[in-house]
Amino acid sequence: MTQIEFKNVCKRFSEKRVALYDVNFKVKKGDFVFLVGKTGAGKTTVLRHIYMELFPDEGDVLWEGISTRKMRKSEILKVRRKMGIIFQDLKLLLNRTVSENIEFVLRLSGEKEVKPRIWQVLHNVGIVGEAQVIAGELSRGELQRLAVARAIVTSPEILLADEPFGNINKDDAIEILKILMNFNSSGSTVIIATHNVELLGEVKKKRVIEIDEGRIINEY
Ligand SMILES: Nc1ncnc2c1ncn2[C@@H]1O[C@H](COP(=O)(O)OP(=O)(O)OP(=O)(O)O)[C@@H](O)[C@H]1O
Ligand SMILES: [Mg+2]
Repeated sequence: MTQIEFKNVCKRFSEKRVALYDVNFKVKKGDFVFLVGKTGAGKTTVLRHIYMELFPDEGDVLWEGISTRKMRKSEILKVRRKMGIIFQDLKLLLNRTVSENIEFVLRLSGEKEVKPRIWQVLHNVGIVGEAQVIAGELSRGELQRLAVARAIVTSPEILLADEPFGNINKDDAIEILKILMNFNSSGSTVIIATHNVELLGEVKKKRVIEIDEGRIINEY
């Protein structure tokens, strides 16, 4: 089933700055997708369209066949609750503990049994020993793991990961990739935006969408 479709999507931030130019692609439920391209190519802009922080100037982004431009605010919020997002700048609560960072999103989602869920997800990403540490004191690799944990703890139907391997070493990056693959194997779609093409070889069953200067230049 097609979950997300970009149909002739154009986006410009100003007269001169065209961020996306006639972008077309489809993502099926359960796909594992790498959205690759160098810095400024338009990866984050694509993800922001998927989580409906941005809307196309021309063309459509369709979520399960419905144009995001035609959704009401209440529908947008409902669909967004099905998404887990790892932001490029992480957006963690740095003055709160690791555990509190997870608890915050669980409470928002209406989950009552928070303690076991927190323990399980921190265990899954390998930072259960850091549960009571203030997030601001974590290493970069640990912060990335916390951002992954926070994004997957609500079991979203789709996970959007914006440069989840930024500023970490290759071993840590592979560990994070494995966590994302494992999450995908439960049936959720995973879209990873990254310039790090070195890691593509680590995943067998995947899709690759390559973007350059706002245009899709390669897809397989
Ligand atoms: N809010 C904005 N206002 C103006 N221009 C923007 C804005 N956001 C992005 N752009 C421009 O759109 C283009 C695509 O940016 P985007 O952030 O999507 O790239 P990216 O592929 O995510 O890059 P990176 O790998 O550095 O994260 C760039 O030229 C960028 O300068
Ligand atoms: Mg980006």
